[in-house]
Amino acid sequence: MTEIIKTSGGLVTLRTTRREDAERLRAMRIEALALHPTAFSSSPEEAATEDWAARAADGCGDGLTAIFVVDAAEELVAMTGILLSAKPKFPHSAFIWGVYTRPTWRGRGLSERLVNTAVGWAASKGRTIVRLGVCAQNAAAVRTYVRCGFRVYGVERASAVVDGMEYDELLMDRRMGGVTR
Ligand SMILES: CC(C)(COP(=O)(O)OP(=O)(O)OC[C@H]1O[C@@H](n2cnc3c(N)ncnc32)[C@H](O)[C@@H]1OP(=O)(O)O)[C@@H](O)C(=O)NCCC(=O)NCCS
Repeated sequence: MTEIIKTSGGLVTLRTTRREDAERLRAMRIEALALHPTAFSSSPEEAATEDWAARAADGCGDGLTAIFVVDAAEELVAMTGILLSAKPKFPHSAFIWGVYTRPTWRGRGLSERLVNTAVGWAASKGRTIVRLGVCAQNAAAVRTYVRCGFRVYGVERASAVVDGMEYDELLMDRRMGGVTR
C-alpha cells in the first residue's frame, strides 16, 4: 500500500517496505536502538547483524508481517512493524514492534498514523486483537498508543535491565471488529 500524506515538513509517503529499503531501514533501526535503549528490547549490535534485505522484502505485507514506513524522499523518517501470529490457536492476534519517529520528525502525528495503519492492516487480515509492549516510563509513546485506541491490560515487572536499572513494561492491547471485553 502507498498513501501520500501532508505534514508540516511537506508531502511524504506512507507505505510498506520493499527489498531496496534494506540499508535505510537498518540505519533507522540502529539509530532508534542507540538513541533509546530503554524503549526497545533489542540492542544496536543485534540489529546490525539482522538480514534487513529479507525483513524489508517480507515487510511488504503479503504474508504474516508488515513494516510501514514514512518515506520523505531523501530518507525514511518513521516506522512501525507488525507481526501476525502463525500459531493455530492464535488466529486472532497481532503484535506491534519497532515504533519509531526520527527526532526532527516528531510531534507531527506520524506514529499515530503508522500504528493505526498497522492495526487496519491486521484487521484486514481478520485479526481482532493487536498487542504491544511499552516501557512504563515512555509517556510520549503510551499517549500515542492511547490515542490509537490501546488500553493497558498488564505490567511486566522488571522486563528489562539497562545500565543496571530495571524497567517495567506496560502491556497494551486494542480490540477490533466490534469485539468488547
Ligand atoms: C514515541 C514516538 C514514537 C512518538 O512519535 P511521533 O511521531 O512524534 O508521535 P506524535 O506526533 O503523536 O507525538 C507524540 C508526542 O510527542 C510530542 N512532541 C512534539 N514535538 C516533539 C518533538 N520535537 N520531540 C519529541 N516529542 C515531541 C507530541 O506533542 C506528542 O505529545 P502528546 O502526546 O502530549 O500530544 C517518538 O517520540 C519516538 O520515536 N520515540 C523514541 C522511540 C520510542 O519510544 N518508541 C516507542 C517504543 S514502544
